Amino acid sequence: MQAPPTMNANPTLRGDYAKAAADCSVEQDWSAYTPGEHALFRRLYERQSKLVARYACPEWIEAIGRLDAGHGIPRFDAINKSLAKATAWSIVAVPGLIPDAPFFTHLANRRFPVTVWLRTPEEFDYIVEPDVFHDFFGHVPLLYDRVYADHLCEYGKGGLKAMRLDAIAMLARLYWYTIEFGLMQTPSGVRAYGAGLLSSGGELAYCVDDPKPRRRPFALERILRTEYRIDRYQDCYFVIDSFAQLMRDTAPDFTPLYARLRDLPALDPSAP
Ligand code: PHE
Ligand code: CO
Repeated sequence: MQAPPTMNANPTLRGDYAKAAADCSVEQDWSAYTPGEHALFRRLYERQSKLVARYACPEWIEAIGRLDAGHGIPRFDAINKSLAKATAWSIVAVPGLIPDAPFFTHLANRRFPVTVWLRTPEEFDYIVEPDVFHDFFGHVPLLYDRVYADHLCEYGKGGLKAMRLDAIAMLARLYWYTIEFGLMQTPSGVRAYGAGLLSSGGELAYCVDDPKPRRRPFALERILRTEYRIDRYQDCYFVIDSFAQLMRDTAPDFTPLYARLRDLPALDPSAP
Protein backbone atom coordinates (compact mmCIF):
# COMPACT_ATOMS: atom_id res chain seq x y z
CA MET A 1 0.00 0.00 0.00
CA GLN A 2 1.04 3.58 -0.53
CA ALA A 3 -0.03 6.65 1.39
CA PRO A 4 -0.97 9.47 -0.93
CA PRO A 5 1.26 12.50 -1.54
CA THR A 6 -0.82 14.59 0.82
CA MET A 7 0.21 12.43 3.78
CA ASN A 8 3.88 13.02 3.13
CA ALA A 9 4.38 15.42 6.00
CA ASN A 10 3.68 12.71 8.58
CA PRO A 11 6.52 13.10 11.11
CA THR A 12 6.48 9.46 12.25
CA LEU A 13 7.92 8.01 9.04
CA ARG A 14 10.62 5.45 9.59
CA GLY A 15 13.13 6.33 6.84
CA ASP A 16 16.44 8.09 7.54
CA TYR A 17 15.79 11.66 6.40
CA ALA A 18 18.95 13.15 7.95
CA LYS A 19 21.13 12.42 4.91
CA ALA A 20 18.62 13.64 2.32
CA ALA A 21 19.48 16.43 -0.13
CA ALA A 22 17.30 19.52 -0.64
CA ASP A 23 15.19 17.64 -3.21
CA CYS A 24 14.79 14.83 -0.61
CA SER A 25 16.94 12.39 -2.60
CA VAL A 26 19.55 10.09 -1.03
CA GLU A 27 22.20 7.74 -2.36
CA GLN A 28 21.08 4.18 -2.85
CA ASP A 29 23.83 2.42 -0.89
CA TRP A 30 23.28 -0.85 -2.71
CA SER A 31 26.21 -2.65 -1.04
CA ALA A 32 24.58 -2.05 2.36
CA TYR A 33 21.61 -4.33 1.66
CA THR A 34 22.05 -7.62 3.51
CA PRO A 35 21.70 -11.09 1.95
CA GLY A 36 18.56 -11.47 4.07
CA GLU A 37 17.06 -8.34 2.51
CA HIS A 38 17.80 -9.53 -1.01
CA ALA A 39 16.25 -12.90 -0.14
CA LEU A 40 13.12 -11.22 1.26
CA PHE A 41 12.83 -9.09 -1.88
CA ARG A 42 13.09 -12.27 -3.96
CA ARG A 43 10.37 -13.95 -1.89
CA LEU A 44 8.06 -10.97 -2.35
CA TYR A 45 8.88 -10.92 -6.06
CA GLU A 46 8.18 -14.63 -6.46
CA ARG A 47 4.84 -14.48 -4.69
CA GLN A 48 3.65 -11.55 -6.81
CA SER A 49 5.01 -13.08 -10.02
CA LYS A 50 2.55 -15.94 -9.66
CA LEU A 51 -0.36 -13.49 -9.59
CA VAL A 52 0.52 -10.87 -12.18
CA ALA A 53 0.07 -13.01 -15.29
CA ARG A 54 -3.58 -13.28 -14.37
CA TYR A 55 -4.23 -9.89 -12.76
CA ALA A 56 -1.86 -7.24 -14.13
CA CYS A 57 -2.58 -5.06 -17.17
CA PRO A 58 -0.71 -5.95 -20.40
CA GLU A 59 1.50 -2.84 -20.29
CA TRP A 60 2.87 -3.80 -16.87
CA ILE A 61 3.48 -7.42 -17.95
CA GLU A 62 5.25 -6.25 -21.08
CA ALA A 63 7.58 -4.02 -19.05
CA ILE A 64 8.49 -6.31 -16.14
CA GLY A 65 10.34 -8.65 -18.48
CA ARG A 66 12.79 -5.89 -19.34
CA LEU A 67 13.66 -5.20 -15.71
CA ASP A 68 15.27 -8.49 -14.79
CA ALA A 69 14.70 -7.71 -11.12
CA GLY A 70 13.92 -11.14 -9.72
CA HIS A 71 17.40 -11.68 -8.29
CA GLY A 72 17.22 -9.19 -5.44
CA ILE A 73 16.88 -5.50 -4.69
CA PRO A 74 17.79 -3.81 -7.98
CA ARG A 75 20.52 -1.24 -8.53
CA PHE A 76 18.74 1.99 -9.40
CA ASP A 77 21.56 3.24 -11.65
CA ALA A 78 21.27 0.13 -13.84
CA ILE A 79 17.52 0.65 -14.16
CA ASN A 80 18.09 4.26 -15.11
CA LYS A 81 20.13 3.32 -18.16
CA SER A 82 17.26 1.42 -19.79
CA LEU A 83 14.52 3.73 -18.48
CA ALA A 84 16.18 6.82 -19.94
CA LYS A 85 16.16 5.18 -23.36
CA ALA A 86 12.57 3.99 -23.11
CA THR A 87 10.71 7.10 -21.89
CA ALA A 88 13.30 9.62 -20.62
CA TRP A 89 12.22 8.91 -17.03
CA SER A 90 14.59 8.09 -14.18
CA ILE A 91 14.17 6.90 -10.62
CA VAL A 92 15.63 8.72 -7.62
CA ALA A 93 16.32 7.13 -4.26
CA VAL A 94 14.40 8.66 -1.33
CA PRO A 95 14.24 7.85 2.40
CA GLY A 96 10.46 7.22 2.19
CA LEU A 97 7.41 9.41 1.68
CA ILE A 98 8.43 12.99 0.91
CA PRO A 99 6.53 16.30 1.08
CA ASP A 100 4.21 17.35 -1.73
CA ALA A 101 6.41 20.05 -3.30
CA PRO A 102 9.50 17.88 -3.94
CA PHE A 103 7.29 14.90 -4.84
CA PHE A 104 5.43 16.79 -7.57
CA THR A 105 8.64 18.51 -8.73
CA HIS A 106 10.29 15.11 -9.26
CA LEU A 107 7.32 13.80 -11.25
CA ALA A 108 7.06 16.97 -13.34
CA ASN A 109 10.73 16.42 -14.27
CA ARG A 110 10.19 12.74 -15.10
CA ARG A 111 11.87 11.45 -11.95
CA PHE A 112 10.07 8.84 -9.83
CA PRO A 113 11.01 8.73 -6.12
CA VAL A 114 11.72 5.16 -4.97
CA THR A 115 12.06 4.34 -1.27
CA VAL A 116 15.41 2.69 -0.45
CA TRP A 117 14.48 0.54 2.53
CA LEU A 118 12.80 -2.86 2.50
CA ARG A 119 10.05 -3.99 4.87
CA THR A 120 10.78 -6.53 7.63
CA PRO A 121 9.85 -10.22 7.22
CA GLU A 122 6.93 -9.62 9.63
CA GLU A 123 5.48 -7.19 7.08
CA PHE A 124 5.50 -9.73 4.24
CA ASP A 125 1.71 -9.49 3.78
CA TYR A 126 0.95 -5.96 4.84
CA ILE A 127 2.78 -2.66 5.09
CA VAL A 128 1.39 0.85 5.65
CA GLU A 129 4.27 2.88 4.21
CA PRO A 130 5.70 2.33 0.75
CA ASP A 131 9.01 0.41 0.72
CA VAL A 132 11.40 -0.47 -2.11
CA PHE A 133 9.33 -3.51 -3.06
CA HIS A 134 6.09 -1.55 -3.45
CA ASP A 135 7.76 1.35 -5.22
CA PHE A 136 9.84 -0.79 -7.50
CA PHE A 137 7.52 -3.67 -8.38
CA GLY A 138 4.36 -1.57 -8.39
CA HIS A 139 5.42 1.70 -9.97
CA VAL A 140 8.60 1.32 -11.99
CA PRO A 141 7.48 -1.09 -14.78
CA LEU A 142 4.77 1.27 -16.01
CA LEU A 143 7.31 4.08 -16.35
CA TYR A 144 8.43 2.14 -19.46
CA ASP A 145 5.03 2.74 -21.10
CA ARG A 146 5.08 5.95 -23.14
CA VAL A 147 1.51 7.06 -22.55
CA TYR A 148 1.56 6.25 -18.83
CA ALA A 149 4.94 7.96 -18.49
CA ASP A 150 3.69 11.13 -20.16
CA HIS A 151 0.54 11.10 -18.07
CA LEU A 152 2.49 10.80 -14.80
CA CYS A 153 4.64 13.78 -15.79
CA GLU A 154 1.46 15.80 -16.45
CA TYR A 155 0.15 14.67 -13.06
CA GLY A 156 3.30 16.10 -11.44
CA LYS A 157 2.79 19.46 -13.12
CA GLY A 158 -0.87 19.29 -12.10
CA GLY A 159 0.24 18.69 -8.52
CA LEU A 160 2.34 21.85 -8.43
CA LYS A 161 -0.65 23.73 -9.82
CA ALA A 162 -3.04 22.15 -7.30
CA MET A 163 -0.74 23.32 -4.49
CA ARG A 164 -1.15 26.91 -5.70
CA LEU A 165 -4.93 26.40 -5.92
CA ASP A 166 -5.20 24.70 -2.52
CA ALA A 167 -6.69 21.62 -4.19
CA ILE A 168 -4.25 18.90 -3.13
CA ALA A 169 -6.88 16.88 -1.27
CA MET A 170 -8.90 16.53 -4.48
CA LEU A 171 -5.92 15.76 -6.70
CA ALA A 172 -4.60 13.18 -4.20
CA ARG A 173 -7.84 11.22 -4.66
CA LEU A 174 -7.09 11.01 -8.37
CA TYR A 175 -3.61 9.60 -7.62
CA TRP A 176 -5.14 7.13 -5.22
CA TYR A 177 -7.82 5.82 -7.59
CA THR A 178 -5.52 5.65 -10.62
CA ILE A 179 -1.77 5.40 -9.96
CA GLU A 180 -2.22 3.40 -6.73
CA PHE A 181 -5.51 1.49 -7.12
CA GLY A 182 -6.55 1.83 -10.75
CA LEU A 183 -8.14 -0.94 -12.81
CA MET A 184 -8.20 -1.24 -16.60
CA GLN A 185 -10.71 -2.96 -18.88
CA THR A 186 -8.85 -5.25 -21.31
CA PRO A 187 -9.96 -7.85 -23.89
CA SER A 188 -9.32 -10.58 -21.28
CA GLY A 189 -11.26 -8.80 -18.52
CA VAL A 190 -10.57 -6.28 -15.78
CA ARG A 191 -6.88 -5.99 -14.87
CA ALA A 192 -4.87 -3.96 -12.33
CA TYR A 193 -2.48 -1.12 -13.14
CA GLY A 194 -2.41 0.58 -9.72
CA ALA A 195 0.86 0.07 -7.86
CA GLY A 196 -0.87 -0.57 -4.52
CA LEU A 197 -2.65 -3.50 -6.17
CA LEU A 198 0.29 -4.88 -8.15
CA SER A 199 2.50 -5.07 -5.05
CA SER A 200 -0.22 -6.51 -2.77
CA GLY A 201 -0.34 -10.22 -1.96
CA GLY A 202 -4.07 -10.16 -1.20
CA GLU A 203 -5.71 -7.19 -2.90
CA LEU A 204 -4.43 -8.03 -6.39
CA ALA A 205 -6.80 -10.99 -6.71
CA TYR A 206 -9.50 -9.30 -4.63
CA CYS A 207 -9.74 -6.21 -6.84
CA VAL A 208 -10.37 -8.33 -9.93
CA ASP A 209 -12.23 -11.40 -8.66
CA ASP A 210 -14.17 -10.48 -5.53
CA PRO A 211 -17.83 -9.58 -6.06
CA LYS A 212 -17.87 -7.20 -3.08
CA PRO A 213 -16.12 -3.99 -4.21
CA ARG A 214 -17.68 -1.62 -6.74
CA ARG A 215 -15.92 -1.19 -10.06
CA ARG A 216 -17.05 2.08 -11.59
CA PRO A 217 -16.07 3.41 -14.99
CA PHE A 218 -13.46 6.16 -14.69
CA ALA A 219 -15.27 9.40 -13.87
CA LEU A 220 -13.03 12.36 -13.09
CA GLU A 221 -15.47 14.45 -11.06
CA ARG A 222 -16.61 11.52 -8.97
CA ILE A 223 -13.01 10.54 -8.23
CA LEU A 224 -12.04 14.05 -7.17
CA ARG A 225 -14.89 13.88 -4.64
CA THR A 226 -14.49 10.29 -3.40
CA GLU A 227 -12.80 9.67 -0.05
CA TYR A 228 -10.55 6.66 0.44
CA ARG A 229 -9.31 4.36 3.17
CA ILE A 230 -5.61 3.66 3.49
CA ASP A 231 -5.89 0.84 6.03
CA ARG A 232 -7.84 -1.88 4.23
CA TYR A 233 -8.87 -3.17 0.81
CA GLN A 234 -10.76 -0.58 -1.22
CA ASP A 235 -14.56 -0.54 -1.36
CA CYS A 236 -14.51 1.04 -4.77
CA TYR A 237 -12.26 0.98 -7.82
CA PHE A 238 -12.39 3.03 -11.00
CA VAL A 239 -11.83 1.32 -14.35
CA ILE A 240 -10.15 3.01 -17.33
CA ASP A 241 -10.29 1.69 -20.90
CA SER A 242 -6.68 2.60 -21.65
CA PHE A 243 -3.88 4.91 -20.57
CA ALA A 244 -4.84 7.04 -23.58
CA GLN A 245 -8.25 7.56 -21.97
CA LEU A 246 -6.63 8.46 -18.65
CA MET A 247 -4.40 10.99 -20.45
CA ARG A 248 -7.31 12.45 -22.42
CA ASP A 249 -9.77 12.71 -19.53
CA THR A 250 -7.25 14.41 -17.23
CA ALA A 251 -5.91 16.83 -19.87
CA PRO A 252 -8.41 19.71 -19.39
CA ASP A 253 -7.56 22.54 -17.03
CA PHE A 254 -8.76 21.48 -13.56
CA THR A 255 -9.02 25.06 -12.26
CA PRO A 256 -12.78 25.48 -12.87
CA LEU A 257 -13.39 21.92 -11.71
CA TYR A 258 -11.65 22.54 -8.38
CA ALA A 259 -13.68 25.74 -7.92
CA ARG A 260 -16.96 23.94 -8.59
CA LEU A 261 -16.27 20.75 -6.60
CA ARG A 262 -14.62 22.35 -3.60
CA ASP A 263 -17.84 23.07 -1.69
CA LEU A 264 -19.70 19.90 -2.64
CA PRO A 265 -19.84 17.12 -0.04
CA ALA A 266 -17.23 14.38 -0.37
CA LEU A 267 -18.54 10.97 -1.50
CA ASP A 268 -18.36 7.77 0.53
CA PRO A 269 -16.45 5.07 -1.38
CA SER A 270 -18.77 2.37 0.03
CA ALA A 271 -21.94 4.13 -1.14
CA PRO A 272 -23.94 2.14 -3.70
N1 PHE B 1 -5.04 18.84 -16.31
C1 PHE B 1 -4.75 18.98 -14.92
C2 PHE B 1 -4.83 20.44 -14.47
O1 PHE B 1 -4.98 21.33 -15.25
C3 PHE B 1 -3.37 18.45 -14.59
C4 PHE B 1 -3.34 16.98 -14.52
C5 PHE B 1 -2.90 16.21 -15.60
C6 PHE B 1 -3.77 16.34 -13.39
C7 PHE B 1 -2.88 14.84 -15.51
C8 PHE B 1 -3.72 14.96 -13.31
C9 PHE B 1 -3.28 14.20 -14.37
O2 PHE B 1 -4.75 20.70 -13.31
CO1 CO C 1 2.86 3.90 -4.38
